[in-house]
Amino acid sequence: MSTPRTEEQTVAFTVENRIAWVRFNRPEKRNAMSPALNRQMMRVLDELEFRDDVGVLVLTGEGTAWTAGMDLNEYFRETEAKGLAGTRKAQRESYGWWRRLRWYQKPTIAMINGWCFGGGYGPLFACDLAFAADEAKFGLSEINWGILPGGGASKVAAELLNFRHAMYHAMMGENIDGKTAAQWGLVNESLPLAQLKARVTAVAEVLLQKNPVALKATKDAVRRVREMNYDNAEDFLVRAQEAANSYDNEGRKEGLRQFLDEKTYKPGLGAYDLSKQKGA
Ligand code: ACO
Repeated sequence: MSTPRTEEQTVAFTVENRIAWVRFNRPEKRNAMSPALNRQMMRVLDELEFRDDVGVLVLTGEGTAWTAGMDLNEYFRETEAKGLAGTRKAQRESYGWWRRLRWYQKPTIAMINGWCFGGGYGPLFACDLAFAADEAKFGLSEINWGILPGGGASKVAAELLNFRHAMYHAMMGENIDGKTAAQWGLVNESLPLAQLKARVTAVAEVLLQKNPVALKATKDAVRRVREMNYDNAEDFLVRAQEAANSYDNEGRKEGLRQFLDEKTYKPGLGAYDLSKQKGA
């Protein structure tokens, strides 16, 4: 890009068939997360979250990278030069959109098309599901330039990987490919890059057929119960379902009706027909 990218141009998105394809869009900088990109991503998430024509959000990257992590110049060196206030502001902008994504209204899928480093583990973990290209490369490269994996990255490694893998990954600064990332549990699946978008589209299409209130309750429940003991989780889940009923009190009744009375589907084999639900 000959002229500098504007803040608005650091994130691109399209909406097709109720899937929002959001792209880190600084390919010339391997989609490194600059403060500008972090601010723009929050705006894009804001814009898409409650749109009726969006049912699933996919986060991917333009070019050869998903994201090369934090922008080492604009996020670290330049903000550090502005003192503590600059550093904290930049942290809040990045952590802010990752947190927003962790609790997003719509189901989210990370589609890791290429490089994924360091700070990229924040949005990776924030997405509900993750699919990688075999050709993608994942790395906690912080140790290679002399810092610890911050911005949540150590937490992500400890949450998603077993202890030995997490330690090795964080201490060695070696990259793993998509296949190893899937074996280690960093992503759901890995497949050749040429097949990645088709697979993610198919997954998104399944999600689009599910009751959206139940999906939001489910994704939040899985994240919340990880840190609860059994009794607290049991109680939380009763209350979470009852809270979901306050937004949609008909869905589960319709699901039961189509199975028990109409006998038009089997819940063990797929979702009920949402279009027959009153108010759908
Ligand atoms: N921060 C700032 N600029 C970056 C970053 C980054 N994280 N990653 C790439 N760039 C820039 C390069 O400086 C280069 O800029 P220039 O064209 O102005 O010189 C441009 O993007 C292209 O990068 P290349 O290194 O030429 O691309 P290549 O495809 O050969 O290598 C790779 C890609 C391996 C991702 C390499 O760019 C790299 O190692 N980047 C840093 C990865 C990293 O360690 N990120 C930080 C993790 S720690 C954290 O996030 C807290």
